[in-house]
Amino acid sequence: MLLLKGGHAHDPQIDLDDVIDILIVDGNIARAEKNIDEPDAQVVDCTGLEITPGLVDMHVHFRDPGLEYKEDIATGSAAAAHGGFTDVATMPNTDPVCDTGASVAYQRARGEEVGLVNIHPIGALTREEKGESLAEIGDMVLAGAAGFSDDGHGVQSASMMRTCMKYVSQFDRTVIAHCEVDDLSGKGVVNAGRASTRLGMFGWPGLAEEAEVARDIALSRSTGCPLHIAHISTKRSLELVREAKKEGLLVTCEVTPLHLFLTEDDITDTYNTNLKVNPPLRTKEDAEALLEGVLDGTIDAVVSDHAPHAAHEKDCEFELAAFGSVGLETTVPLLLSYMAKKKLLDFARFVELLAINPRAILRLRPVTLAPGSVASITVLDSQKKVTVDTEYLQSKSKNSAFLGSTLQGAAVTVIKDGVITYQS
Ligand code: DOR
Repeated sequence: MLLLKGGHAHDPQIDLDDVIDILIVDGNIARAEKNIDEPDAQVVDCTGLEITPGLVDMHVHFRDPGLEYKEDIATGSAAAAHGGFTDVATMPNTDPVCDTGASVAYQRARGEEVGLVNIHPIGALTREEKGESLAEIGDMVLAGAAGFSDDGHGVQSASMMRTCMKYVSQFDRTVIAHCEVDDLSGKGVVNAGRASTRLGMFGWPGLAEEAEVARDIALSRSTGCPLHIAHISTKRSLELVREAKKEGLLVTCEVTPLHLFLTEDDITDTYNTNLKVNPPLRTKEDAEALLEGVLDGTIDAVVSDHAPHAAHEKDCEFELAAFGSVGLETTVPLLLSYMAKKKLLDFARFVELLAINPRAILRLRPVTLAPGSVASITVLDSQKKVTVDTEYLQSKSKNSAFLGSTLQGAAVTVIKDGVITYQS
């Protein structure tokens, strides 16, 4: 039995915004009210802390199987719990690609064995993510895939993507689209425009994303398949999603803190390869529009796109470095720092972005702070100072775009299915 005493609980699903106690018995919330006394319970003092339903990062790369030198399910799970998450959705660009029921089953079983975070595998849309033939979608649904994506690449053929969406629409699952027209992004490594001109490197234009966002929205309209746009990076892409939502289409989208809090101007003559991400960091105008989208509800989820890479894959020329930044352990501190500074984002919206909407998009059972719900809970300290350095990061890889930052706010206790998975 666990008793969370005196925390400020936030859960818009049940109109909760109050200081209460929460009693957890046998993995479930037994009571959630003021002044609970339970002498036999282990007490967690939550005075001055914020309590939310367990947070979900719906876009991470755990690299297991096949690329465990970057991250494995054990180290990725530890990073997730440390970052405040009870649930993650793992992208399928492992080696081999997660494109069969057996590979989905492996990730789930290994996740359960490690026991720190619920792993919800995203299955590939196409075999080996090659964009040529349909993967074993039905088999993966049966094995527990929470969605489908060829993340890391766009599906280049419109007719292949239409086949994928038609097929997925038979199941209660969402297609998560990494939108990138390869012959427009080409060899681009930074945003096309000021950054590519200033740095003398190939540019990856916003158009390469926007053209595919427009195409996939059209395919969602035509097939009826729910569509979620991954790591949206430009103002125009966001406008396309806003229009699709207005039209009533089943279209959602996510953004990373990279694209909210950094811009192409942060890439300087130090050529910090941790700022090389796909899609690339965009303009200030794009980042401001994305923040607006977070606040006005056009953006449904904030995700890390946790993309671990080994030191030798980043410690090289910018053009040769791998795309990606780790992010599981900085998303919550970055958002809490922003909330403390700007007062624009409140905890109700934070819970929508990081708990309610991701579960809905992944078709997971809702988790609330009401009696009867499974006890997956994140406790946050908005005052806690965090310095992002290699010691702070529990991920196997240290390629954070935010290395060296001092942030305010972090998870201090994480409870998954009634068990404490992280406590600082
Ligand atoms: O920067 C990225 N890294 N973007 C992606 O879409 C894939 C990811 C990776 O797998 O490293």
